[in-house]
Parts: sequence; structure tokens; C-alpha cells
Amino acid sequence: MKTRITELFGIEHPIIQGGMHYVGFAEMAAAVSNAGGLGIITGLTQRSPEDLAKEIARCREMTDKPFGVNLTFLPMVNTPDYPGYIKAIIEGGVKAVETAGNNPAKWLPVLKEHGIKVIHKCTSVRHSLKAESIGCDAVSVDGFECGGHPGEDDVPNFILLPAAADRLKIPFVASGGMADGRSLVAALSMGAEGINMGTRFIATTEAPVHQNVKDAIVAATELDTRLVMRPLRNTERVLTNPAVERLLEKERTLGSAIKFEDIIEEVAGVYPKIMKDGTMEAGAWSCGMVVGLIHDIPTCKELIDRIMAEADAIIRSRLAGMAA
Ligand SMILES: Cc1cc2nc3c(=O)[nH]c(=O)nc-3n(C[C@H](O)[C@H](O)[C@H](O)COP(=O)(O)O)c2cc1C
Repeated sequence: MKTRITELFGIEHPIIQGGMHYVGFAEMAAAVSNAGGLGIITGLTQRSPEDLAKEIARCREMTDKPFGVNLTFLPMVNTPDYPGYIKAIIEGGVKAVETAGNNPAKWLPVLKEHGIKVIHKCTSVRHSLKAESIGCDAVSVDGFECGGHPGEDDVPNFILLPAAADRLKIPFVASGGMADGRSLVAALSMGAEGINMGTRFIATTEAPVHQNVKDAIVAATELDTRLVMRPLRNTERVLTNPAVERLLEKERTLGSAIKFEDIIEEVAGVYPKIMKDGTMEAGAWSCGMVVGLIHDIPTCKELIDRIMAEADAIIRSRLAGMAA
């Protein structure tokens, strides 16, 4: 399939694997890229720019296809060495960067100077237009369904995608709730030129996470996610567990007086415990509502091939038959 997104990133299928903390290691990115999508290494999961440089080199050993790096600019206790990470990306010869969180304008000139394409993750039309105006090459439009940070506007993709399509000139991918060929065709019909998936890619054989995480995804339904940290205006969609319910109880009890320190136990340093050790009740970890549509653990290639075959069948048979 050829779209402005496949052309922009030089990939075969219009499917991107969004940056994911403690999931987006070289193994994940290489598996997605080898399957014809765009795999993404999560920059800040690497503790230092030197570690990111090594991870990029490791990924390069596993694939000769294009892959990208995610750089997330969210409120953090200690500001990461962004110039160092960007240097590692440039020197590593990476040609695609997925930015997320705060406005990436400051970093665009240096990235563009080195021929790097930038796709910025946005949860609203206004942020998407801003990304376009500062010179981003594409946007990833993340609806309210998405795993991770859906923003504070709560607009689901059935509204957000066509609204974005009405205003944007640069290409965009639909993100949040994407799982299969039906998602891809729906996204294309609403104006997107591809899809970005997070949660779905965690339940694949190559995802470098503990088996408990994959099993939890397969076992969960679409009713099992919760929104946490809304009172802090840092809303995150996570899979529920006793730690998450404890966190929500604190939010209810403390109300607007709540501070980050009050919930630190449930959110800080949780990812390695969950993703590496498989201690599923260690705290809150991002997970999309799409978890309710995930029932198996295929390889990335099986997953992407299946999505493309299903999309093709829907377009050529189901939809064409209806239009006749
Ligand atoms: C476990 C997990 C960790 C994530 N970490 C990040 C991150 O570090 N930076 C980022 O920009 N997005 C992050 N995301 C968001 C994904 O890149 C993607 O936008 C989102 O998962 C799309 O929604 P979906 O899960 O419904 O596919 C994360 C998502 C998950 C599920």
C-alpha cells in the first residue's frame, strides 16, 4: 500500500510502532521494521545518550530497513540531556524521529538539517495545526482511546480524525485504538494515511517484555483501562490493577490538593518492574482501550501481514461490493 506516510518514511506498509517506555528496545523496533512497518526505539528508556547510540547500533545490526527514535518531552523530575540524545540520533544515521509531549520547535532545525523526518504526536486538532505550522513533516493523531497520555480534551478518534483531516495539509496517522485491518481501513477512510499502534505491538512474540505483560493484555477487556493523574493534568490511560485502584482512591480522597509526591509509589520507577520482571501489580503502566481487541500473540510479521490482508479484503470485497 502506498500513502504519503509510506513515501515519507520509505516503508512498505503504513504502520508505525509508537515509542513505548521499556518496550521500544532495538528488538521491538527491528521486528516491526523488518515486517515492513516503521519500528521506533524509545529514546528516554536509554539512560544516557551513549546508551541510545549503542541501542541504535544494535538495531542497525538487526535490520537494514528504516527505523526511528521517539523523543518524549513530558514534565520530568530531572530534565534529560536532549541535545545529547539528538546528537546520538544524528550520528546513528536515524532518519525518522517521533516527538511527543511539549512543542518540539526548538529541535526541528537541527533535525531537518540532517534530513531527519519528524512526526509529532498530538492529541488535538489545535496541537496538530501547531505542529504543521512549525514544520513537522507529519503528525500522529492520538485519540482518547490511546494507551499513554491522551491529553485533557477527551475527543475519541471517530471525531478527532475527520476533524484533523479537515484542517491539516501534512499527512497524519491515526493512533489510539488501532489493532487490525478494520482499524486501518477506518483510519484511511477518515483521512489518515496510516496507523500508529502501541498496545497491540506489546502482545507480539518479539516484544522484549515479560510474558506476564503479554498475558495480561490478552486477558484484559476494553473495560479494564483507567485514567490516572487527571487532577495533575498529566492524564495517563493505564491497565487497572490494585496499585491503580489505590492511586485512584488517593485522587478521590485528596481531590485538587493532590501532588505528584502523593502517588509516587504507584507511578515512579514502575516500568522495569512490570516490563522486565513481570510484577504486574507494581504500579500504573500505559495501556490502550484496544486491549479489548487483542486476543493473540503473533510475530510482528504475522500481525502486519494480517492487517494488510484484512484491509485489502475489506476494501476490495466488502466495501467494493457495497458500492456496486
Ligand atoms: C506501555 C506504553 C508505553 C508508552 N510510552 C510512551 C512514551 O514513552 N512516549 C510516547 O510518546 N508515547 C508512549 N506511549 C504511547 C504510544 O506510543 C502510542 O501513542 C499509543 O500506545 C497508541 O495507542 P494504543 O495503545 O491504543 O495503540 C506508550 C504506550 C504504551 C502502551
